[in-house]
Amino acid sequence: MRQRKLKDLDERLEMFGRYRIDSPWKFKGEWDRFFMERGAGMNADTYLEIGCGKGCFLMPHAEAERSSNFIGVECQQSVLVRALEKACDEDLRNVIFVDDKVYDVRDYFEEGELAGIYLNFSDPWPKARHAKRRLTHRDYLKSYCDVVRDGGTIEFKTDNDDLFGFTLEEIKVLDLQIEEFAVDLHGSNFESKKFMTEYEEKFSSRGKTINYLRIRNQKEQGK
Ligand SMILES: C[S@@+](CC[C@H](N)C(=O)[O-])C[C@H]1O[C@@H](n2cnc3c(N)ncnc32)[C@H](O)[C@@H]1O
Repeated sequence: MRQRKLKDLDERLEMFGRYRIDSPWKFKGEWDRFFMERGAGMNADTYLEIGCGKGCFLMPHAEAERSSNFIGVECQQSVLVRALEKACDEDLRNVIFVDDKVYDVRDYFEEGELAGIYLNFSDPWPKARHAKRRLTHRDYLKSYCDVVRDGGTIEFKTDNDDLFGFTLEEIKVLDLQIEEFAVDLHGSNFESKKFMTEYEEKFSSRGKTINYLRIRNQKEQGK
């Protein structure tokens, strides 16, 4: 849902600017160095969340896993600014937020540069004519397989059963390998229930079960 523009948005973006970048393509192939120069660990695994919202998932994740790096991309500045506020409060070196809309992750990352991608409660785009806009459309999935290293992961959570069904079909077409799957994540033993997103908290508290899957990237597949 599109948020109203906050009154003092520009000042707040400026104030929390040290956790925001708006030209991610400049760091293509250089993310390791980027994080190292910020004081994060060397040769760390780097994870991307597309559509990270207010950073409710990424921030606790980055805090718990200091030896990995985390990049959150969010295209609505009024939402992103909440993530930036959290990041400045916690002052973690291993997290950064990108102020941009992802069309093709290959614009930001070299082949195999990421250890994993998270897609949490992606916009469902329910109309059939908008299917190509869904972040789990086969064209997007293919691009994720390019930038995630061999053996890396792509994780997807959603409350939307139709989007989950669509995603399973797209995965089948590409012959990708699903290694974890649940139609009720919080009734399962999977680790991925540990860090909840804002939408996950909201839907779970209303009794909606959460769909979840994890793809293991194998370079000979997904082409
Ligand atoms: C339904 S919200 C979910 C937010 C968060 N992941 C959660 O689970 O609480 C989807 C978010 O993805 C963002 N988004 C959608 N498409 C995007 C894209 N291509 N690039 C960056 N952000 C995107 C939207 O602005 C919105 O904030």
